[in-house]
Amino acid sequence: MAAVPVRKVALVGGVSAAAVTLVTLGIVLTGKIAVAQGLLLVIAFGLAVAVLVLGAMVLQLKRSMSAVAARHTRELSAVQQTLGIGITANSKTIHAHGAALEAVIQAAAEKATSRLESSIAATGKRLDEVGAEVAAGRSDTAQTYKQIEALLDLRAVLQPRALMPPLRDWAASPDVLRWLAESVLSRRPKLVVECGSGASSLVLGYAVQKAGYGRVVALEHDADYAKITAQRVSDHGLQDVVEVRHAPLTPWTGPDERERNWYDLSAVKDLDGIGLVFVDGPPARTGPMARYPALPVLLSHCADEVAFVLDDTIRADEVEVSDRWMQEHPEFVRQQLRADKGMHVLTRRPDGIPG
Ligand SMILES: C[S@@+](CC[C@H](N)C(=O)[O-])C[C@H]1O[C@@H](n2cnc3c(N)ncnc32)[C@H](O)[C@@H]1O
Repeated sequence: MAAVPVRKVALVGGVSAAAVTLVTLGIVLTGKIAVAQGLLLVIAFGLAVAVLVLGAMVLQLKRSMSAVAARHTRELSAVQQTLGIGITANSKTIHAHGAALEAVIQAAAEKATSRLESSIAATGKRLDEVGAEVAAGRSDTAQTYKQIEALLDLRAVLQPRALMPPLRDWAASPDVLRWLAESVLSRRPKLVVECGSGASSLVLGYAVQKAGYGRVVALEHDADYAKITAQRVSDHGLQDVVEVRHAPLTPWTGPDERERNWYDLSAVKDLDGIGLVFVDGPPARTGPMARYPALPVLLSHCADEVAFVLDDTIRADEVEVSDRWMQEHPEFVRQQLRADKGMHVLTRRPDGIPG
């Protein structure tokens, strides 16, 4: 915007006023107008010049103020722009920091959650294990109690005359022996045959003696164990009711055409009227389904109401033997008892009709 020439206006006005004053003085001196009129003329002209100068000054002032205002507006706008850029940049930085912080917090939370989850899972697993251990402990205690109870019963009823061999590990467990003794006392079989001699030979002998009827033939494949059992039988005064027969394992071919080792058949050929068979041998280590031949071999020597008792049915091999017997002889009914090492009892139906 161009500046208003206030000084030029004042100079021109002043010179004009001086000129007008001189002209007016001349006119007054010539007497053409009165002094008062001349004075008035000069004053009026002077006032006009003053108004002109003042107007120029006001205009100049306005322009200056506008320029200052425009400059301040520009500066303000520049400051605002700078501030705006700064604020945007800061907000972007803050946003970026916020996102980074959020990511860090999320990662930390995920890690903590995952740790917590695996810790909870591990604790849960341990709790399950402890629960299973407690349950196993309870079941162990219950099983131990059952064995003690059966043992006390056996001792009280049979009253052995010498020390009994331990009823753990290889020996039949007290609950199985109690079942056998009870069966002998209540059913009074004419002949009891057992496959695998030992403590059971003594228990069966005492039961037969107490029943006052019948006898026991214990098949033993191992010559040493045959001697040991025979000696024990004699120590207990049971030689009249228990006969230990040493019958080495010899090949036998079953209905499935498979060859297995079983007690020499010459040891069983004279047996007749068997009412109870306790199958606790040969040992599993002698071959798969080592006890299977007992039923197909002995069945023709049995009484009508015969019971086969198979020990150790907690083992898959014995369960397979029991299943095979049931498939091949549907005239039998089976009880699966929760004995210490598992026990299946297969009894021939009195009517002989397949179930
Ligand atoms: C399961 S055991 C028979 C146990 C027998 N019925 C009893 O109640 O004591 C089967 C065969 O294992 C053999 N046997 C017995 N006691 C044994 C032992 N302590 N170590 C290795 N074999 C043994 C004998 O030959 C026995 O006929």
